[in-house]
Amino acid sequence: MSTLPPFVTPVIELTTARLRLRQWRESDREPFAALNAAPCVMEHFPAPLTRAQSDALADRIETGIAEHGWGLWAVEVLASGEFIGFVGLGIPSAELPCSPCVEIGWRLAAAHWGRGYATEAALAALRVAFETLRLDEVVSFTALPNQRSQAVMARLGMRRDAATFEHPAVAEGSPLRTHCLYRLNRARWANHAS
Ligand SMILES: CC(C)(COP(=O)(O)OP(=O)(O)OC[C@H]1O[C@@H](n2cnc3c(N)ncnc32)[C@H](O)[C@@H]1OP(=O)(O)O)[C@@H](O)C(=O)NCCC(=O)NCCS
Repeated sequence: MSTLPPFVTPVIELTTARLRLRQWRESDREPFAALNAAPCVMEHFPAPLTRAQSDALADRIETGIAEHGWGLWAVEVLASGEFIGFVGLGIPSAELPCSPCVEIGWRLAAAHWGRGYATEAALAALRVAFETLRLDEVVSFTALPNQRSQAVMARLGMRRDAATFEHPAVAEGSPLRTHCLYRLNRARWANHAS
């Protein structure tokens, strides 16, 4: 099996028309814990997160960006300065059908859904993936019932694999265990972005 190159860059921060994708701050911890505790945000995950679990996740993400230069960026609304969640790139820790692979992912506070923010931020993250990191492919995956996330994948021009897979980190028998996998390669991204 091939391996991914290390992809280390100076810390990247991005600005879109309405958003800033940046390294995490201490002040993000509280609103991040609030969104991770919200049942609607965590509907397609095994459980909402406790404050300690949320802080541990923020720690891991922040360290990853410091070490690699990119990752799951904190997303801030330019007009208000409000932290609304994360969007960005990651390397899945579980062994998956796409491994080794780089995924794109998102999690926003529900008050900020329905405004196109996830797609806008993800388009900026894809530009980093294909132009800066020179990746050949970016994937995304989610539990089958997560239609909102799949709609973001489709808006980005990603294509769904015919085959589903069972996510090893989700309990057997859970309706969230079966996942769909979306892929976007460099050529398709270039066509979609132009
Ligand atoms: C997945 C998630 C990020 C999607 O959020 P979203 O708001 O539906 O997606 P977008 O930000 O791309 O917004 C698209 C919607 O905004 C609307 N919209 C409004 N203004 C817009 C604008 N200026 N530009 C683009 N779209 C706009 C679109 O029409 C679309 O509406 P629709 O849902 O009625 O079709 C969000 O539901 C979430 O955080 N879920 C919980 C965490 C999660 O499940 N993460 C994924 C795990 S794999």
